Amino acid sequence: MTTAEIREKFLKFFESKGHLRLPSFSVVPEDDPTLLFINAGMTPLKPYFMGKKPVFPGVEGEWYRVTTCQKSVRTGDIENVGRTNRHQTVFEMLGNFSFGDYFKKEAIEWAWEFLTSKEWLGLEPERIYVTIYIDDDEAFEHWTRVGVPPERIHRFGADENFWPQNAPTQGPNGPCGPCSEIYYDRGPEFGSDTWADYYETRESNRFVEIWNLVFPQYNRKDGGVLEPLPKPNIDTGMGLSRVAMVLQGVTDFYETDEFRPLIEKIVELTGVSYEGPRSVAHRVMAEHARAVAFILADGVHFANTGRGYVVRRLLRRAVRFGYLLGLREPFMHRLAAVVAEVMGGVYPELRANLESVQKQMKIEEEQFLRTLESGIKRLDAMLEGLSPGDTLSGREAFTLYDTYGFPLDLTVEIAGERGIRVDTEGFEKALEEQQERARAAAAFSRELFRRSNEALAALAADYGGTPFLGYESLEAQASVKLLLAGEQTIEEAPAGTEVQVVLDRTPFYAEGGGQVGDAGVLEWPGGWARVHTTQKSPEGIFLHLARVEEGTLRAGTVVRALVDPHRRDTERNHTATHLLHAALRAVLGPHAQQRGSYVGPDRLRFDFTQFEPIAPRDLARIERLVNRFIQADFPVSYAYKPLEEARKEGAMALFGEKYGDVVRVVTVEGSLDQVVSKELCGGCHVRRTGEIGSFVIVGEEAVAAGVRRIEALTGEAAVAFVRETLERAQGLSRELGVPLEQLPERVRRLLEELKAREREVEQLRLELARARLGKEGVSLKEAHGLRYLAVRIDGLEAGALRSAADELLEKHRADVVALGSGQNLVIKVGKAALERGLDAGRVMRRLTELAGGRGGGRGAIAQGGGFDLERALGALEEALA
Ligand code: ALA
Repeated sequence: MTTAEIREKFLKFFESKGHLRLPSFSVVPEDDPTLLFINAGMTPLKPYFMGKKPVFPGVEGEWYRVTTCQKSVRTGDIENVGRTNRHQTVFEMLGNFSFGDYFKKEAIEWAWEFLTSKEWLGLEPERIYVTIYIDDDEAFEHWTRVGVPPERIHRFGADENFWPQNAPTQGPNGPCGPCSEIYYDRGPEFGSDTWADYYETRESNRFVEIWNLVFPQYNRKDGGVLEPLPKPNIDTGMGLSRVAMVLQGVTDFYETDEFRPLIEKIVELTGVSYEGPRSVAHRVMAEHARAVAFILADGVHFANTGRGYVVRRLLRRAVRFGYLLGLREPFMHRLAAVVAEVMGGVYPELRANLESVQKQMKIEEEQFLRTLESGIKRLDAMLEGLSPGDTLSGREAFTLYDTYGFPLDLTVEIAGERGIRVDTEGFEKALEEQQERARAAAAFSRELFRRSNEALAALAADYGGTPFLGYESLEAQASVKLLLAGEQTIEEAPAGTEVQVVLDRTPFYAEGGGQVGDAGVLEWPGGWARVHTTQKSPEGIFLHLARVEEGTLRAGTVVRALVDPHRRDTERNHTATHLLHAALRAVLGPHAQQRGSYVGPDRLRFDFTQFEPIAPRDLARIERLVNRFIQADFPVSYAYKPLEEARKEGAMALFGEKYGDVVRVVTVEGSLDQVVSKELCGGCHVRRTGEIGSFVIVGEEAVAAGVRRIEALTGEAAVAFVRETLERAQGLSRELGVPLEQLPERVRRLLEELKAREREVEQLRLELARARLGKEGVSLKEAHGLRYLAVRIDGLEAGALRSAADELLEKHRADVVALGSGQNLVIKVGKAALERGLDAGRVMRRLTELAGGRGGGRGAIAQGGGFDLERALGALEEALA
């Protein structure tokens, strides 16, 4: 049964039981910037479990029964993907949901019917095992009634049979309940372990969990209070690829029909065959290509934080596995096309956004490949002083990783080629130390339900959002209203604790509108805490993510809140962003509209609509214009107004952004009553443009189809950048012994010379090959009415290889020449044979089928690589048949 058939059967079955079929929701949670990804079928439906009226856009009536196939993302275990048969980042979860309608009885009966009835999946009833929550006698009764013998029903505690896992003791708050998991015994051919063994080890290829029936009957509240919901619900989750693997009788999901085409494409691209679980690289590339394609298609961009960081990690992990298989060119974007082809029917966004997804992937891949190359250069330098048997220190390996993003496994691999070991323990230690530091700043502590926190909601209901004083001042007195550790309210936070601090008012800006959250310090008599960053809850409560360094912080403590003075740099960058926006529109035209931005103390990034790359001359004009705005020292002011009024005044708003009724308008007033810039913006700005000091564009690139990005620096960072660049150029000019102005001309000449030399070398190689051929001689063979030559000369580059093949063809008046060098192979077909319908591309394809390798071509010539030449040349006769 194909995956598509299983999916359709499931949805149809539950439709026949009165459910509304909904398309998959986006993997990006709506209205919940703090939840990383949708991670189960139920997450986008959470509000309906809590009593929200179940009406859906474009559908008439209220629907208390719903069924979906939801694309879901889990990223807790990326490092295990590919290495085990279980881990997957993007997967499809089939589910049926009841919002206070039916409950356990129907859920269990229907699950049983769907699994065992011949009309549906037709699984063998005797192979089904179930687990239930420790005291769930009701579930036990229903299972025995449908026909599962008691000895195949097992009871476990909240660590196994509660969803979310361990919710009573550990949270999160929100809907939760006991669950019942359904397992299938695939039989001894998949493993000799027993059901009892499985529960000891939790690793089995034989017993597979295929479906989880959850009975959300509680709303968990702070302190582990389980409050019964007015009406109990049903939430189920069936892993589609798991079921496909069971029904297709294959060892793991990589062998299912949805994954095979990807694996096959990877084999084609790398020329390396797939050998099941041992082929970790193939699996990583396939799985991650799918994940990246799905996530980008839902509108996430590559970035250094949050969701964008997750896709970046996935892409990079796949690229470096591809690198280990010899790929030096971007390939992931090609796999994305396969994903769109295989799954685009069910998830149309994969096809609709393919072009932009591929473009983003390719750019990201190219960038990372360059990183890998520079990392390799740096590593070469580190290895230079070492001899076989020596060890590269963990610190050095870590530096590579940390500054070049250069992965440890590549370091180990490359060092290993020279007999040098790597102190991986030292690396782990350095990494741990760094993670310890980074953990503090991590924005996302849990993937699920984060901060649908009652304490915050109650606070907001009583006092509204936190008053923000930071437009005027970087410092204020405030008192602590609430302390949170994870989801829990705490009374005090002693030194060493990570804590989220809510103040009654604050000068700290909370991340938003592209501007990063403020860092700084909270001080009180006898103690202080470091604020890593500041975020805002959906209710508008500011959360200071902090670590208590000394003393104890308590609810009620009065603190001095001091924002890190680097915020002034952020302000420079923020106002510069508005000026850049204005300059872009002035130089390029009004189509150049903001699409997104990053404003931090270190730099600014501005994404805007524009199809063509910006000509260097225009870029210089834009930069100059911004600097003129700065030098004119225009005043920057802000005012609050009704949205309508602001729009009438022509204030620019960000496309797709939601605004309240009253908005803040930031204006840069030019001379003669002209407005330089007027934008809706909640961010922090300089008071006069002169404070920005200077502005330098350091990068311009495409980020998606029709969207380009400018990166720029201001203030001291801009001057430092110019200084460094100048020093580099001066260093080069010294090294090449020419004045700076002549540097470009000199480099151009050097490159020309280099090319000329390369041509000479090529020529020499060719002559050498001729001489060798003359000496050793080659013998023309005949088969299938064709006169052919199969020859090997190592050391020839592609160009020389083609020329030599031509010469051989002429000289021996052959019909076909196959000439190999190293792992490369060229096939040439003579005119006469060509006219008789022989095609070099076809011969090449046939050859790769017979002898491995990869290649392509058409008509008179075909070329390829990755060959075992002995084998390939030996197989030529057969390929000509
Ligand atoms: N929400 C449940 C799960 O993800 C069905 O396992």
